[in-house]
Amino acid sequence: MNKTGVKILSTGSYLPEKVLTNFDLEKMVETTDDWITTRTGIKERRIVDDKQTTCDLAYNASKQAIDKAGIEIADIDLIIVATVSPNAPMPATACYLQEKLKATNAAAFDISAACSGFIYGISIAKAFIESGMYKTVLLVGVEVLSKITDWSDRSTCILFGDGAGAMIFQASQENNDIVSTYLGSDGKYTELLNIPAGGSVMPTTKETAEQKLHYIKMAGKEVFKEAVPKMAYAATKALELANLKMEDISLYVPHQANLRIIDAMVKKAGIDKDKVYINVQKYGNMSSATTIVALDEAIKENKVKKGDLVELVAFGAGLTWGACVLKINF
Ligand code: ACO
Repeated sequence: MNKTGVKILSTGSYLPEKVLTNFDLEKMVETTDDWITTRTGIKERRIVDDKQTTCDLAYNASKQAIDKAGIEIADIDLIIVATVSPNAPMPATACYLQEKLKATNAAAFDISAACSGFIYGISIAKAFIESGMYKTVLLVGVEVLSKITDWSDRSTCILFGDGAGAMIFQASQENNDIVSTYLGSDGKYTELLNIPAGGSVMPTTKETAEQKLHYIKMAGKEVFKEAVPKMAYAATKALELANLKMEDISLYVPHQANLRIIDAMVKKAGIDKDKVYINVQKYGNMSSATTIVALDEAIKENKVKKGDLVELVAFGAGLTWGACVLKINF
């Protein structure tokens, strides 16, 4: 019998309706549209309304992917949610999502690998399916970063946005749509990008709340320096593992944190910049949701044809990084 492979059945995405532009931000902190545009490439981002939760965004993206895949919700036997902005620290947002979907036959858990979360999730889905343990996996990358952003800190609040993307995988004897994955991490950089309070190191107190230590803190320049070589390395490594050359890839979908990071990474890795998909101008950095929202959008815009190979590359808090080559067969 053939080794079990993975078929990618569909993708889906959801962005909240509310748009926050750079001009809106000019009224909130001391910044300008020109500063944000030249430093990051971001023009606007989407933000949830008061009632929308992480699970709500994940649900909308998942429903779209499930409808497109043409599967029954009862078929899903594993739900993985990649997020750093969950419904609550406990239980997993994947369990909230399971309940909202009524996916009663699934096991459900969250993973935390920040902006690389979706690529980590793809690796996990591949391993579980290939091992024979699960047959139909729903993977979601979702963030409501607006709720963990300090809106008085101009160095971070201009960067982030909210959104969700989903992908459905199924065991297959014919397909091998997850062609390769490569993951990396280095825990010596935990302090560069983190949320200091709310865990065992610094439990939440009145003082931590007053000092806004439950919000994202980032050493921007240092993160930038690490992001470029690590993303370039990951992009090259995933191709090497797949025995592919740069020119075999039809579309590169990098993590959309900052246009300058993407440009520098593309140059360093020797990627043809005409093959790089960019939507950071519309949504900012949505961490775990970024690569899947971008891929789903590229598919909807017919920038990916059936049979094309695409490569996702990401980098985020941890630090973590990773890349994967996918065959789009739907
Ligand atoms: N508007 C106006 N001025 C600002 C703003 C702002 N929004 N933010 C910072 N400044 C000021 C600073 O105070 C500083 O002023 P000073 O020189 O008087 O001290 C000046 O601009 C330069 O600040 P830097 O932080 O040095 O600016 P830099 O060119 O590094 O750009 C940025 C900052 C955009 C954050 C950049 O470092 C960056 O993109 N880093 C990567 C961050 C990132 O993308 N992280 C996410 C990736 S990982 C992940 O996705 C989880």
